Amino acid sequence: MMWGKGIALFIILAMVVFGFQNCLSQTINRGSFPKGFVFGTASSAFQYEGAVKEDGRGPSVWDTFSHQFGKIADFSNADVAVDQFHLYESDIQLMKDMGMDAYRFSISWSRIFPNGSGEINQAGVDHYNKLINALLAKGIEPYVTIYHWDLPQALEDKYKGWLDPRIIKDFATFAETCFQKFGDRVKHWITFNEPHTFSIQGYDVGLQAPGRCSIILRLFCRAGNSATEPYIVAHHVLLSHATTVDIYRRKYKSKQQGSVGLSFDVMWFEPKTNSTEDIEAAQRAQDFQLGWFLDPLMLGDYPSSMRTRVGKRLPTFTRSQASLLKGSLDFVGINHYTTYYASPNRTSLIGNLLNDSLADSGAVTLPFKNLQPIGDRANSIWLYIVPEGMRKLMNYIKHKYGNPPVMITENGMDDPNNKLIPIKDALKDEKRIKYHNDYLTNLLASIKEDGCNVKGYFAWSLLDNWEWGAGYTSRFGLYFVDYDDNLKRYAKDSVQWFKKFLTSA
Ligand SMILES: *[C@@H]1O[C@H](CO)[C@@H](O)[C@H](O)[C@H]1NC(C)=O
Ligand SMILES: *[C@@H]1O[C@H](CO)[C@@H](O)[C@H](O)[C@H]1NC(C)=O
Ligand SMILES: *[C@@H]1O[C@H](CO)[C@@H](O)[C@H](O)[C@H]1NC(C)=O
Ligand SMILES: *[C@@H]1O[C@H](CO)[C@@H](O)[C@H](O)[C@H]1NC(C)=O
Repeated sequence: MMWGKGIALFIILAMVVFGFQNCLSQTINRGSFPKGFVFGTASSAFQYEGAVKEDGRGPSVWDTFSHQFGKIADFSNADVAVDQFHLYESDIQLMKDMGMDAYRFSISWSRIFPNGSGEINQAGVDHYNKLINALLAKGIEPYVTIYHWDLPQALEDKYKGWLDPRIIKDFATFAETCFQKFGDRVKHWITFNEPHTFSIQGYDVGLQAPGRCSIILRLFCRAGNSATEPYIVAHHVLLSHATTVDIYRRKYKSKQQGSVGLSFDVMWFEPKTNSTEDIEAAQRAQDFQLGWFLDPLMLGDYPSSMRTRVGKRLPTFTRSQASLLKGSLDFVGINHYTTYYASPNRTSLIGNLLNDSLADSGAVTLPFKNLQPIGDRANSIWLYIVPEGMRKLMNYIKHKYGNPPVMITENGMDDPNNKLIPIKDALKDEKRIKYHNDYLTNLLASIKEDGCNVKGYFAWSLLDNWEWGAGYTSRFGLYFVDYDDNLKRYAKDSVQWFKKFLTSA
């Protein structure tokens, strides 16, 4: 009798405690975040717009690359993508339906300057004016990325694009044109999206446009030098950013009252063990990823580990360049998806075979330890789900860089594009809901418990879209896109989840 009562009491208690915790973990919503915290979705021109030959747009390096045989997993291209060029008004309604505050999109450089420089194409300006006005009409704040990887092909042909210092002036002219044409309404600018990714993928391993590399005995790329070019490209990107921000601050900021940031791709690196050498390897891996770009912008130079290890191949900044760079960010944009283990390189084989910036870091980063994955995997082979990485990364930025304002400008996960799965089943995306819930829970803890200065969160992505080298094989959207039926959009369950999250307080 007593025994039975004890058990019953225990079960009730357990239910209360467990139920309470369960309820806590599920009740984060907009109201849990500081007042004014911004929620939005993110996209980019090349992955969304399509209409690549309309209204006078010139080709970009990604048009060229995606039309080369064998570069894209499903042999697709982004000529149509998800046709947001035409469908932007109904897409904005989808954002509105969810209760989103903001939309991050990018401007296609070759729509504004079909040749990269020279004459402005007014039809391109008109398009973005319409998009911006349509967003504002629905109360959605535009966050505009000026460069999201789609360099005008004309500049690649003229002087090899980012490898030549002439790019700095041409980029600054393009950016200033954006401030002139759109800055009366756009108050949040992101000069570059993921410079680390395009330096590495475009010029070190050659898997993205313009597809240059020298790794593995030059087996994969016709031209390139993986030991030098990533550093040259990154250097020109940093100087382009600083030059642009200087122009904004001198000529536009007092009138337009906007802010300018940059979006960095940042994994969290967890030392494989707590040994000193693993901890140091994790730090080096972070230096060669975030530090490579954020140190010059916050502290005025590349990390000392890079100076030591890359030596003469790492370009230097003059004094005046260093002072232009330092402090040239109003906010730090972070694109965060995943966490890997880091350990030191234990053989020079990789170094000799690659002879690239990855080898220079002297760190090996992997999503496995003793054959155990670090977390559940999404569809992309690189995307392992480790929500605690978000909180650790926010704390790292707080401590290392003096708690600057941070915007999470991308966070999300993908499902496979499997034609055998009926649409109604593909819309059941519990895994995505859990991903956003768990990453947001960790982000909230970093704000509330650790005092990190985070101001907003953009889910990648509003819609399924063209995922670069993975083509249409990957579905990152909150909305499903039916590629077999006029690109119709369908709300996945995560849309309902965000809607509830954003409308409850
Ligand atoms: C782009 O360059 C081509 C070839 O040099 C030229 O014919 C065309 O007028 C230029 N277009 C613009 C918009 O500057
Ligand atoms: C390393 O130490 C930290 C703090 O003591 C601990 O949380 C973590 O689990 C340890 N990691 C490993 C791999 O042992
Ligand atoms: C690790 O890589 C660096 C840079 O390539 C190289 O100098 C070093 O010898 C490597 N370490 C070992 C143990 O091979
Ligand atoms: C690596 O590349 C650099 C730059 O091209 C070159 O100077 C060096 O000799 C190369 N090292 C190896 C081990 O191939």
